[in-house]
Amino acid sequence: MAETLKTIEAMLAEAGITEGADAELLIGHVLAESRGRVQALAIMGTEISAEDHEAALSLASDRASRIPLQHLTGKAAFRGIELAVGPGVFVPRPETETVAQFAIDALAAVPLGESAEQPGAGPIAVDLCTGSGAIALALAQEVSTARVWAIEKSPEAHAWASRNVERLGDERVTLLLGDVADARELLAPLVGRVNVLISNPPYVPTGMVPRDPEVRDHDPELALYSGADGLDLVRVISKVALDLVTDGGTLVLEHAEQQGASIRAILQADGWRMPATHQDLTFRDRATTAVR
Ligand SMILES: C[S@@+](CC[C@H](N)C(=O)[O-])C[C@H]1O[C@@H](n2cnc3c(N)ncnc32)[C@H](O)[C@@H]1O
Repeated sequence: MAETLKTIEAMLAEAGITEGADAELLIGHVLAESRGRVQALAIMGTEISAEDHEAALSLASDRASRIPLQHLTGKAAFRGIELAVGPGVFVPRPETETVAQFAIDALAAVPLGESAEQPGAGPIAVDLCTGSGAIALALAQEVSTARVWAIEKSPEAHAWASRNVERLGDERVTLLLGDVADARELLAPLVGRVNVLISNPPYVPTGMVPRDPEVRDHDPELALYSGADGLDLVRVISKVALDLVTDGGTLVLEHAEQQGASIRAILQADGWRMPATHQDLTFRDRATTAVR
């Protein structure tokens, strides 16, 4: 085991992959063991079979060609859940976990029964551009009374989200295939009733091709780019969200580090109150919230 680990770490380092725990996670995937268990087995000097050694090396070779780890293992951790992911869907990122917290806090603060006509009904959340369903499912898992609607345009991504919603949605997540621009029509019964609307939309400016091959070559283009300044979809979301969100409800948007001021200006001009930009755990401006 220790030998396999060392060989894979060297292969990955050669390919420029020096951060993260990819070697342990790849071996763990082959053995169907957790990362912690792989570490323990390595320390205890446990032997790995020749077959498992070869399987792990084969995966490491794919990873060294910069195929994302999550495409090789078929799963991505997001907050407390594990999503099925693969080619055709954006791999959820750790920074989005922090953005989702704003929506979770806002949802949890909605008094029961204030959210809808039904007394005692839970709060309503919408996740636009849901990808794998990561944010929508985290909201449903962490706010047990919430009902969540999610929209995704890409049929490939929608298929991944569909699998995840079926497994983790607790029958409180409704997934729709469609364009955010049509959200008013797609979510007609929710107009003026949504307590929290969150989106991690594509926000890379069209001319700014990401440097990491995992992102550039494996995340779908539809998940990355959004016009010359990266904010085309934010402009659409700001307007449709105004129709969907109830008075006093919250909008949460993820964005790139330099986009906070532009997004606050868009939201302010559309009539949102109190637009505020927040930092992630590495002190970069990555989320903006506003109140209807
Ligand atoms: C940056 S990814 C985020 C995915 C997921 N919310 C997450 O945080 O992991 C953006 C997602 O928006 C979807 N998308 C792009 N344009 C869209 C549109 N006009 N309407 C709906 N979804 C769209 C993409 O297919 C992609 O899944």
